[in-house]
Amino acid sequence: MQKVLVTGGCGYIGSHTIVDLINNGFDVVSVDSNIRSSTKLLEGVEKITGRKIHNYKVDLCNLEDTNAVFHENRDIVGVIHFAALKSVGESVNEPLLYFQNNLTSLINVLKCVREYNIPNFVFSSSCSVYGNATELPVTENTPLGEAQSPYARTKQMGEQMIEDYARVNATNSILLRYFNPVGAHPSGLIGNCPSANPITWCP
Ligand SMILES: NC(=O)c1ccc[n+]([C@@H]2O[C@H](COP(=O)([O-])OP(=O)(O)OC[C@H]3O[C@@H](n4cnc5c(N)ncnc54)[C@H](O)[C@@H]3O)[C@@H](O)[C@H]2O)c1
Repeated sequence: MQKVLVTGGCGYIGSHTIVDLINNGFDVVSVDSNIRSSTKLLEGVEKITGRKIHNYKVDLCNLEDTNAVFHENRDIVGVIHFAALKSVGESVNEPLLYFQNNLTSLINVLKCVREYNIPNFVFSSSCSVYGNATELPVTENTPLGEAQSPYARTKQMGEQMIEDYARVNATNSILLRYFNPVGAHPSGLIGNCPSANPITWCP
């Protein structure tokens, strides 16, 4: 069974992705510091899939700890990198927190992807890279616009880092730019819990 590492696996999109990966025959490990989540969604994933998911409670900004996860899982065939802070409003008030967290974690994950020769890498980017698009609908060919927040800038910078990385490394990389997903798994066991205060995660 091929193994995929999902970062941010305890979050909204990460948890749903893990369900899909398992349903499609993959083995999954998660890395999530739970800075903006708890392990509650993973419990939901386990109930839905009947499979135990191991989450490494690791801050991806810590290179040594991140490296240890890859060292323990040398058979990983791909990484889906969801882990990030994502509140646009908070990023305006705390830009350094966003640059520090979102970019350092990405750099560390890419360092490990290279060191352990992981063939596939998916970056959870965002439609916010298009800025205030003047023409709708936005397509993959729409030029990127001025970032409207530090959060959006971390996604633009992240994409640029990956493009430069991909030029000189053999990893297959994809930038996944999506708009705000809505909804929840039909079981109701996992879902999104928007909160005015991004520090709070409500079960
Ligand atoms: N939800 C949306 O509407 C949306 C839209 C476009 C893009 N995205 C992007 O998709 C990704 C996932 O979004 P989500 O809605 O699932 O967010 P989420 O907040 O539910 O999940 C993100 C997870 O990442 C973890 N995390 C953050 N920093 C970390 C770090 N340094 N080390 C380890 N774990 C860390 C958090 O604890 C959280 O569980 C994010 O990168 C986000 O920017 C989300």
